[in-house]
Amino acid sequence: MAAALALLAGVGAPPAVAAPARARPVPDAPLRALADAASVRVGATLEPAQIDDAAYAGTLAREFSSVTAENAMKWYAIEPTRDAVDFAGADAVLEFAEANDLAVRGHALIWSQDAFTPAWVRAITDRAELWTEVEDHVRAVLERYRGRIRRWDVVNEPLDTFGSARSGSVFDRVLGPDWIADVFRLAHAVDPDAELWLNEYGADWNPQKHRALVELLRTLLAQGVPIDGVGLQTHRLSVDGPDRAAFERVLRDYEALGLRVAITELDVAVAPDDAQGLERQAEAYETIVVSCLAVAACEEVTTWGVTDRDTWLDDLGLFPPPTRPLLFDDELAPKPAYHAVSQVLAAGRAAARASSPGDPTTTTTAPASTTSSVPGAPDPPTPAPAARPVAGAPRFTG
Ligand code: G3I
Repeated sequence: MAAALALLAGVGAPPAVAAPARARPVPDAPLRALADAASVRVGATLEPAQIDDAAYAGTLAREFSSVTAENAMKWYAIEPTRDAVDFAGADAVLEFAEANDLAVRGHALIWSQDAFTPAWVRAITDRAELWTEVEDHVRAVLERYRGRIRRWDVVNEPLDTFGSARSGSVFDRVLGPDWIADVFRLAHAVDPDAELWLNEYGADWNPQKHRALVELLRTLLAQGVPIDGVGLQTHRLSVDGPDRAAFERVLRDYEALGLRVAITELDVAVAPDDAQGLERQAEAYETIVVSCLAVAACEEVTTWGVTDRDTWLDDLGLFPPPTRPLLFDDELAPKPAYHAVSQVLAAGRAAARASSPGDPTTTTTAPASTTSSVPGAPDPPTPAPAARPVAGAPRFTG
């Protein structure tokens, strides 16, 4: 996966001309206050063990308005062995969130990658048996957290690396192609008030995968599948880009389907982390967050971690660590990227729309882009029927 991810994020591309360091006035408020004012969630991850890390947990609670369990709510964490269910880690993350007034992004009910599926699930070859296990798992988790976790990544990473096919997971092989629709319908039946999201990697950057994801979602929506939003992971393995116009058009392509949109796993690796590298990293963060604010359907930006000292990228084997991809350094001091995000949030959605290279008057009720998100690619698809409204969860508007 590391090599594929490298290709996806353009690692190896020649470095852009270094930008001069820019002075940024720092708003005198934590990110979460600025994000609230801009009607967007700003999130980060939490592992149960990090709850006892006062610096980490304190920074998370002070600066962010949402939390995603980095691993504790995954099937392999809840039920590593068949019928040996353990919600302790997931409960701990949720209790921390509730104690600190943080929203929760439930991550993830079904992860369509064999490597991250419990071995005992992966070994099932009988369709009825596998569906029973999927149903039991989805039901157990959603019933346990009903009313407490309202936003769920129901299906994570259904496509292969480049989007040319489904991921080929045990769910694809044994359940057949309709399993994604079936899982969303099941989740809706168990918790009709929950927001149901599909989360994917690489589609934020790779044009082919973006088109494949748009097509998948359009097909699901046309079938009446209850899906509310699409999460774009947005792991950036290079500080180069993204191009704002292209990135916004990607977001608007999903908006045009009537879906909510979130940046769910943002990080931007930087090497070397000298002043120029950190400035380019800040610009990448700025571009991504301002793009989200410019698109009314984009409701959340979650970073995949809080501090550079805790990041999955250091274990990926792609760069020699440290990769330093987050908003806070090893000592929890805010980096230039933090100041860039802070400034963009403080300026708010109106400023983001005003600076948009796209159509600033676009709304969620009309196709947002008249050109494709990919140069040279066909126009975006005809919008499907709008996704269903979610009870009690009004859509943010700019
Ligand atoms: O739980 C064991 C622990 O007992 C042991 O001491 C430790 C030693 O290495 O390993 C621990 O498990 C690791 C776990 O993270 C907790 O740290 C796993 O080996 C490791 O594979 C796991 O990696 C996580 C990965 O998902 C797989 O679940 C990363 O932390 C997490 O950042 C990453 O997150 C994913 C998203 O869920 C989906 N999108 C991609 C993203 C990055 O890969």
